[in-house]
Amino acid sequence: MNNLVVFASGSGSNFQSIIDAITSGQLSARIVGLVTNKNEAYAIERAKNNNIPVLVLNPSDFEDNSEYSEKLLQQLTDWNTDLIVLAGYLRKIPASIIQAFDNRILNIHPALLPKFGGKGFYGMNVHTAVIEQQEVETGCTVHVVTEEYDKGPILGQSKVQVLDTDTPEDLAKRVLTEEHKLYPRVIQSHLETLNQH
Ligand code: GRF
Repeated sequence: MNNLVVFASGSGSNFQSIIDAITSGQLSARIVGLVTNKNEAYAIERAKNNNIPVLVLNPSDFEDNSEYSEKLLQQLTDWNTDLIVLAGYLRKIPASIIQAFDNRILNIHPALLPKFGGKGFYGMNVHTAVIEQQEVETGCTVHVVTEEYDKGPILGQSKVQVLDTDTPEDLAKRVLTEEHKLYPRVIQSHLETLNQH
């Protein structure tokens, strides 16, 4: 069985879609832990409701970044982590973790990368920029996390049409619905690829 660790800073609706995909049998894995940097993240409630252990670790609480990375790496090792799934996690992943989990960290981004990615493109900023630039389509992207922000290999995308009447909030909602379908599907196929090696 593949052990997933989900990282989330907020509501965790993608985290929930992964839990649901496991329950329905669409995704063959188990979630062994949630990592969050925020005590008040709603994702913590979701973890508790599903008996998933939670690690709250805020990088800003550490004077020394390597102390933080070591603590995180130790927990990931203790959980026998096969794959890290970033789901709305708003902190930088330390380089040492990216190296230790080469090709084993995924992220979902609410746009069609390589467009609208990189520094500053997160949350509602992405959807506002899509509308400002009069794009006719947007969507979401699942990619492998590398040291370069939003630049890792793309594993899957779903498209969403942009309507003339759309506000950034409208778009965010429709893109999120697609994220919930795309992420579990891509996680499953990536696990299958990893398990072949
Ligand atoms: C999603 O839009 C995702 O693309 C981005 O962060 C948001 C997380 O939403 N990386 P949720 O916490 O899963 O609801």
